[in-house]
Amino acid sequence: HKKYKIAILPGDGIGPEVMQETYKIIEIIKKKLLINIQTSEYDIGGISIDKHGIALPKKTLIGCEKSDAILLGSIGGPKWDILPPKERPEIASLLPIRKHFNLFANLRPSILHKKLNYLSPLKKNNIKDGFDILCVRELTGGIYFGKPRIEINKKNMHYAIDTSIYHKYEIQRIAEIAFQESLKRRCKVTSIDKANVLYTSKLWRKTVNKISKKYPKVHLSHLYFDNAVMQIIKNPNQFDVILCPNLIGDVISDECGSLTGSIGMLPSASLNTKNFGLYEPAGGAAPDTQGKNIANPIAQILSLSMLIKHSLKMNHISNLINTAVYKTLLKGFRTHDISHDKNFVTTKEMGNEIVKSFIEEL
Ligand code: IPM
Ligand code: MN
Repeated sequence: HKKYKIAILPGDGIGPEVMQETYKIIEIIKKKLLINIQTSEYDIGGISIDKHGIALPKKTLIGCEKSDAILLGSIGGPKWDILPPKERPEIASLLPIRKHFNLFANLRPSILHKKLNYLSPLKKNNIKDGFDILCVRELTGGIYFGKPRIEINKKNMHYAIDTSIYHKYEIQRIAEIAFQESLKRRCKVTSIDKANVLYTSKLWRKTVNKISKKYPKVHLSHLYFDNAVMQIIKNPNQFDVILCPNLIGDVISDECGSLTGSIGMLPSASLNTKNFGLYEPAGGAAPDTQGKNIANPIAQILSLSMLIKHSLKMNHISNLINTAVYKTLLKGFRTHDISHDKNFVTTKEMGNEIVKSFIEEL
């Protein structure tokens, strides 16, 4: 029997709570489907600063290196917001771990099922048929990593600098991912940029156009960022794969995720070229709901599903998890973020219901 190793990094905020619910699914996969999964937990983020004085310890990196994939909870919180930018958990752990493993390809699927379309904040006639959008976000380049970065650190300094830089190869490889993914779907790619203003966007557009020549079956279009935000709200169903630079993808994926009802249901996969990946909810630490047993565990559970699909290559199990989540929602179970009234279940109850639905699928 093949043995799979998953490094689990619960992190901060609601991370540990929603991770507990995800463990329940892992247990069922081990016990009922007899898949040999070995999990090991490591510290990251604010909690790691508190425990070890460092946001991304060597031990965590080594543990991740020895694994087939990483399942991450979330990182950051108000407690560490007072730290200088360089020491903040996000900058000192999340960005470096993405860079360390070269996780340039960030996949964020936002699906609104037709039968659940009333969960969306959009008016019903705009989303009659639901939607199924895959955001492909470049994750290790652009303004997040460009140098120089200069913060205001002197008393009389009146400026700060971030640098946006894209190399051709960085655009080529993420565009390839978007086109490849679209072939498995509806063969449509919309690339988003600000090519009317930014030089990096001009290079982006030109490079994506070149790559598209290899994919004659795929319909490619380009939208400016401001217009794209609007078009997505007006009619999300017209989109299939959306390809974005790093910062633009950060915004667009939150937008698409929230149109499904809550970004508490938005999972993500960050991949390198070797199917190695880090899987995490896209919504973040949500410190305001931390410790109240009300957070939505769906994004974390769907992130596990993506891990099983992309890194462990067990599509059928991934599909079973997705179906279990969908069925649990169809049965009417709602956490507070997707409930329209005072009737909502706790994090643990939602987890248990998804486990029940999962077992029904086996
Ligand atoms: C995300 C998050 C991160 C990002 C933050 C926490 C650094 O918002 O994964 O979308 O901006 O990439
Ligand atoms: Mn984000």
